[in-house]
Amino acid sequence: MTALRVGIVGFGGYTPARVMTNEEWAEHVDTSDEWITSRTGIKRRRVAAPDETTVDLAEAAARAALEDAGLGVEDLDEIVIATDTPEVYTPDTGAFLQHRLGAREVPTYDLGGSGCAGFVLALDIGMARAAQKAGRRILVVGVELLTRLMNWKDRTTCVLFGDAAGAVVIGESDTAVELLATTAGTDGSRAGILARLSGGTREPFTLESAQRGDHLKIEFNGREVFREAVKRMGQASREVLDQVGRKAEDLALVIPHQANKRIIDAIAKSLGLTDQQMYVNIEEFGNTGSASVPLALAQARAQGRIQAGDLVLLTAFGAGFHWAAALLRF
Ligand code: UT7
Repeated sequence: MTALRVGIVGFGGYTPARVMTNEEWAEHVDTSDEWITSRTGIKRRRVAAPDETTVDLAEAAARAALEDAGLGVEDLDEIVIATDTPEVYTPDTGAFLQHRLGAREVPTYDLGGSGCAGFVLALDIGMARAAQKAGRRILVVGVELLTRLMNWKDRTTCVLFGDAAGAVVIGESDTAVELLATTAGTDGSRAGILARLSGGTREPFTLESAQRGDHLKIEFNGREVFREAVKRMGQASREVLDQVGRKAEDLALVIPHQANKRIIDAIAKSLGLTDQQMYVNIEEFGNTGSASVPLALAQARAQGRIQAGDLVLLTAFGAGFHWAAALLRF
């Protein structure tokens, strides 16, 4: 009998039903399908229904991952959620999800504020926690309902984002997907370049700030974020490959954070990867923040893009700046 190993035992994703096209955005702001497509590669994105909230998206992805793992909610020992669009400010979305799922009174925690890098960081933490105690099963979710918390009149950001959730269950099995290497880093010196600044102790909510719409404002220097994203996702990818003495050509698939098709192409070029090695779904879903990597992972697997034995690299970059990469063996 093969020995049990710790790793990912289930994958799940969820996207809201409503599809919003670039043409629809052109009815709200001064933009065009041509601009959005050529600058970002995005054609459509999903928008949560008015009665859907973050925990609804998280629940759907979590149940899909549990079903894929052949496990029930009672089997969960811990829940970790990466999100920058939480259910409420306090308590964490994890508390809402624990109750919604009907899970046991297990610990939950949110990883907030690391933007689009959140899920890969949460996966790393979840794997380490699972390795600490035999039999521990951990649900890791990346979820974002960005369309609810952005300014629908700011064309420089609103056309980029979409709503989604992705999840994995970590546990032990003889076919678990192993985490071979991880890396992560932070450069807080440019925290204000991609940020939501209102609502904390530095700039508490006031009537005036709410009237200005500060709570929906996303600070964003697109060009600078673009350059950093290419540099850091490439760097993190090289680091995990080096850790295990592997090369880019050994990778069956790379699942990069889906922020911009041009960013993905630039990473592929810098690492010497072919188009076939890159997983891209940005055309359909846009940038879904911390949901982007786990959603793409679940879809790539469901579409048969990943086979047993494959090396798959995840890499992400987001606000902070934070970046992370993880190398998986299926
Ligand atoms: O998820 C976290 C990571 N996020 C990212 O990695 C995003 C990184 N950045 C990007 O993807 C790109 O910088 C953008 C897609 C956001 C922008 O593309 P760009 O090629 O860097 O364009 P730009 O910001 O330099 O803007 C070019 C022009 C500007 O007009 P002027 O100043 O040249 O007259 C913008 O005002 O495009 C204008 N513009 C738009 N035009 C039509 C900005 N947004 C729009 C829009 N529609 N939606």
